[in-house]
Amino acid sequence: MAWFQMITTLFLLAAMMLGESNAQLSASFYAKTCPNVSSVVRSVLQQAQQNDIWIFPKIVRLHFHDCFVNGCDASLLLNGTDSEKTAPPNLSTEGYDVIDDIKTALEKACPGVVSCADILALAAQVSVSLGGGPTWKVPLGRRDGLTAHRDGIGGIPSAHDSLANIAARFKSVGLDSTDLVALSGVHTFGRAQCAAFMDRLYNFNNVSGKIDPTLNATYAKELQQRCPKGGDATSLIDLDEQTSLSFDNKYFLNLQNRRGLLQSDQELFSTNGAETAAVVNRFARSQSQFFASFGKAMIKMGNINPLTGGNGEIRLDCRKIN
Ligand code: HEM
Ligand SMILES: *[C@@H]1O[C@H](CO)[C@@H](O)[C@H](O)[C@H]1NC(C)=O
Ligand SMILES: *[C@@H]1O[C@H](CO)[C@@H](O)[C@H](O)[C@H]1NC(C)=O
Ligand SMILES: *[C@@H]1O[C@H](CO)[C@@H](O)[C@H](O)[C@H]1NC(C)=O
Ligand SMILES: *[C@@H]1O[C@H](CO)[C@@H](O)[C@H](O)[C@H]1NC(C)=O
Ligand SMILES: *[C@@H]1O[C@H](CO)[C@@H](O)[C@H](O)[C@H]1NC(C)=O
Repeated sequence: MAWFQMITTLFLLAAMMLGESNAQLSASFYAKTCPNVSSVVRSVLQQAQQNDIWIFPKIVRLHFHDCFVNGCDASLLLNGTDSEKTAPPNLSTEGYDVIDDIKTALEKACPGVVSCADILALAAQVSVSLGGGPTWKVPLGRRDGLTAHRDGIGGIPSAHDSLANIAARFKSVGLDSTDLVALSGVHTFGRAQCAAFMDRLYNFNNVSGKIDPTLNATYAKELQQRCPKGGDATSLIDLDEQTSLSFDNKYFLNLQNRRGLLQSDQELFSTNGAETAAVVNRFARSQSQFFASFGKAMIKMGNINPLTGGNGEIRLDCRKIN
């Protein structure tokens, strides 16, 4: 009996290790094959920011949209009829040309080595840190997928979803409610189109004339001026009215003042009985706790179903398979 148990245990242990090593990413993955990968990414992003001061948030968002559709496999970047980028609703992601520039620079420095999925993960980290946010060691070694998943973009949460739905979606990919609050804190930089929140100003829950009751009344008035009814719904509004170009914890102070721009942001603080409200308060008190949790959550998000080993490929052009 003891022998049987021991052998079973050993077998299970070996199976677990094997399973893990298949999916294991490592921060030193390119140490020998492309030691300069981080500084190449950083230098292209710094250059890009000279032309577009909003490039950092755009880049971070791409990693999220990649990982939430079929895992972090750069499927988001693929062109073609099955393309995720052009699938309705228009989620207005941008920054693809800068990802191309990073790929071009890396193909020069270390040809055929660095995957587009890893470029997204690294570029997201560098963008957060250049924007004033935390640094973390990015696990690397992802490979690029061979197919796009246009239908999968339904898996990206909408700003109009309830907190319960968004939390369930995050949980389904291994992200808990602290991760959800930390990751939502990325809306401390960047912008949103009026279309993303206008219902909160004019017809909340489809009731004509109704303003979202969780929206600060003075902020609602300001937003009504910036996004007039019948005006240009593609106008861009700062996600963090205080400091939308820098990565800090002001977002959480905004939520406490009911000044979150998206419904999905404000829900974290204003949903009755939600455990996320305490996390918002904690991050509002302590930027360093927010930063630490953010780095951890980004690593978890970057670990969603990566392709490793002999799966997928290293794309030479991020927009098409080899
Ligand atoms: C919790 C669920 C989330 C929802 C419902 C959501 C929704 C949105 C929406 C509606 C916008 C505005 C898009 C536009 O109007 O152009 C936006 C912008 C943005 N999102 Fe999220 N998001 C979520 C989570 C995340 C996560 C996890 C990240 C990255 C880690 C992220 C990164 C960004 C960034 C950086 C922007 C600004 C983009 C720019 O300035 O171009 N979001 N998000
Ligand atoms: C690493 O990349 C940076 C930025 O592109 C460049 O300035 C530097 O010369 C590179 N170093 C090496 C050893 O290739
Ligand atoms: C992908 O589509 C973009 C935009 O339509 C285009 O500029 C680019 O050349 C295409 N790239 C490939 C490899 O098909
Ligand atoms: C999606 O929205 C962006 C930003 O408003 C715009 O530049 C782009 O043309 C739109 N794409 C489509 C296919 O409607
Ligand atoms: C509002 O009405 C539109 C059109 O009738 C419908 O598609 C949408 O689901 C409704 N939204 C809500 C939150 O009830
Ligand atoms: C509305 O915003 C102002 C300015 O931030 C703040 O002083 C006030 O407390 C907010 N009101 C509510 C109900 O949160």
